[in-house]
Amino acid sequence: MMRNSIAVLAILLLLVRVSSAAEDDSLYTTFLRCLENHTDPTSHVSDTLYSQSNGSYTSVLRAYIRNARFNSSSTNKPLLIVTAADESHVQAAVVCSKSLGLQLKIRSGGHDYAGISYVNDSPFVILDMFQLRSISVDVADQSVWVDSGATLGELYYRVWEKSRVLGFPAGVCPTVAAGGHISGGGYGNMIRKHGLAVDYVLDAKIVDVNGNILDRKSMGEDLFWAISGGGGASFGVILSYKLKLVPIPETVTVFRVERILDQNQSVTDFVYEWQKVAPTTDDRLFMRMLIQPISSQVRKGQKTIRATIVTLFLGNADQLVSLLDKEFPILGLKKENCTETSWIDSVLWWDNRAIGTKPEVLLDRELDSANFLIRKSDYVQTPISKDGLEWIWKKVAELGKTGFVFNPYGGKMNEISPAATPFPHRAGNLYKIQYSVNWNENSPELEKNYTAQIRRLFSYMTPFVSKNPRSAFLNYRDLDIGINTFGENSYEEGEVYGVKYFGDNFDRLVKVKTAVDPDNFFRNEQSIPTLSSKA
Ligand SMILES: Cc1cc2nc3c(=O)[nH]c(=O)nc-3n(C[C@H](O)[C@H](O)[C@H](O)COP(=O)(O)OP(=O)(O)OC[C@H]3O[C@@H](n4cnc5c(N)ncnc54)[C@H](O)[C@@H]3O)c2cc1C
Ligand SMILES: *[C@@H]1O[C@H](CO)[C@@H](O)[C@H](O)[C@H]1NC(C)=O
Ligand SMILES: *[C@@H]1O[C@H](CO)[C@@H](O)[C@H](O)[C@H]1NC(C)=O
Ligand SMILES: *[C@@H]1O[C@H](CO)[C@@H](O)[C@H](O)[C@H]1NC(C)=O
Ligand SMILES: *[C@@H]1O[C@H](CO)[C@@H](O)[C@H](O)[C@H]1NC(C)=O
Ligand SMILES: *[C@@H]1O[C@H](CO)[C@@H](O)[C@H](O)[C@H]1NC(C)=O
Ligand SMILES: *[C@@H]1O[C@H](CO)[C@@H](O)[C@H](O)[C@H]1NC(C)=O
Repeated sequence: MMRNSIAVLAILLLLVRVSSAAEDDSLYTTFLRCLENHTDPTSHVSDTLYSQSNGSYTSVLRAYIRNARFNSSSTNKPLLIVTAADESHVQAAVVCSKSLGLQLKIRSGGHDYAGISYVNDSPFVILDMFQLRSISVDVADQSVWVDSGATLGELYYRVWEKSRVLGFPAGVCPTVAAGGHISGGGYGNMIRKHGLAVDYVLDAKIVDVNGNILDRKSMGEDLFWAISGGGGASFGVILSYKLKLVPIPETVTVFRVERILDQNQSVTDFVYEWQKVAPTTDDRLFMRMLIQPISSQVRKGQKTIRATIVTLFLGNADQLVSLLDKEFPILGLKKENCTETSWIDSVLWWDNRAIGTKPEVLLDRELDSANFLIRKSDYVQTPISKDGLEWIWKKVAELGKTGFVFNPYGGKMNEISPAATPFPHRAGNLYKIQYSVNWNENSPELEKNYTAQIRRLFSYMTPFVSKNPRSAFLNYRDLDIGINTFGENSYEEGEVYGVKYFGDNFDRLVKVKTAVDPDNFFRNEQSIPTLSSKA
């Protein structure tokens, strides 16, 4: 009896496997035919398509998973992966996904914190852009064309190869890719001097929903505006951006200083003063503040708070020391605490590499490696009082794992209108908070605990941060602030997260979306809805 039912079960399982493999094959075959129909035979599109039964499928999928939470057997996997090797493959992938009724997710570097470039609830196909990574720097024009699949590390390296006095104001993590980062309004440690990456977009090439390639001129200013901070994935597939480069001094200065609460290092005064200085000081100075719960050395088994300032100054150490001596005397910064270096070395230093590390490490893509992580964001518009800070330290220590990164605004950010790009968080914001919890062990219970913990801290912070809306940063993707099911109320659902990410720019994004993709082919959990459902 027992043996019989096991045999039946085994046969059933086999049948399920055979039939799903058959479906897999027939979808693969249909999709491949369609791709071939829409591309030149010399472009070998068949070499770019992976079905689940292909021996390389798992390694291709994992290569650009950057959050280990979505590297589990329970995560829904794509039916197919198209690893486009040229523009015609991107065009064909759009046309074929659309005509076969398949949802397409677009992945460039895979750093989306919620994994939405490679995870989906319903069946889907990944268009993987990692092969499209060319970068061409024009020193005379002080500009660069960068493909979506190129990483920021590659961008900085290629610019540095050609010029020691040009750079680009984008993110500090070298493996983040241009496609998601720039379309989402990326920023880095030159934000106060130069603003955001999207403030330097001169032109772009995209594949629209009909499979056509458009540039700034042929797409028009509305769509060009939308893909410069409104998230690319709602509007089309970004192939490349043309960016204006910015001048970089030959010498820059970095330092890191920390204070620990229970070692009588007046963390509260330190952070309180930082709030006044960091968003208002010389534009050339970016002082990031990290707040972390750490194990106390004084009271065993308890947590205390460490506050760390990490800095880039676009000038030399003498200038920096005299500036901070005047504006931030309790820091007590001396020249010996500073390191003068080149901009490219500062990029390495910010990536926690020793000064002197060969810049070639910026070309290392570190495939298939990720921590488990969760992020959230907030904006602070009025300084938090000392009592408020002390209360926050208590909560952070109690919770024990979630930390903050405070990123000061001001400078150039105050000079740009909130409507100039979809990214609305300009003047009036002192600093942005990133909430951050990382771990490196695959444990559903830990994930549950840390999810609850970061949400609790977010809730504790309510009185101290922006309201109506409680703003958020698109590149710090957080599905807790709302998701869209694209039913009857897709406009209203979209408005919930859309206004947090885009403020008053949300409605203009909806208009552009409705004009360029009325059937909502390009969609994800937090994409821009169309207007059709508003009525
Ligand atoms: C370790 C780490 C460090 C980070 N540091 C910074 C930082 O310093 N500054 C900052 O601003 N952000 C930072 N981020 C956030 C990062 O900018 C965003 O996650 C960004 O969207 C990642 O781009 P990606 O192409 O690597 O990601 P992906 O996950 O590939 O894409 C992100 C989103 O963009 C869409 N997309 C990607 N490519 C295209 C395309 N070609 N066309 C249309 N849509 C596309 C995806 O579908 C997805 O919705 C960091 C993230 C990580 C994990
Ligand atoms: C490919 O093109 C042929 C000839 O135009 C057509 O008959 C066929 O249906 C197409 N196949 C797909 C999958 O698009
Ligand atoms: C897997 O897919 C790739 C890309 O299409 C192809 O080159 C390779 O031959 C396939 N491998 C197998 C075992 O089918
Ligand atoms: C901090 O100050 C308190 C009171 O002034 C003192 O009792 C304690 O020993 C000090 N701790 C350290 C680590 O210096
Ligand atoms: C600067 O360096 C000196 C000597 O190493 C050290 O004692 C001091 O704490 C440092 N100051 C800061 C602000 O880090
Ligand atoms: C995914 O998990 C496998 C083990 O199951 C591991 O080898 C791989 O490195 C992981 N990749 C990422 C990106 O987390
Ligand atoms: C998760 O939280 C519960 C309740 O606080 C605790 O008892 C448990 O030990 C935690 N689990 C892990 C893996 O940390």
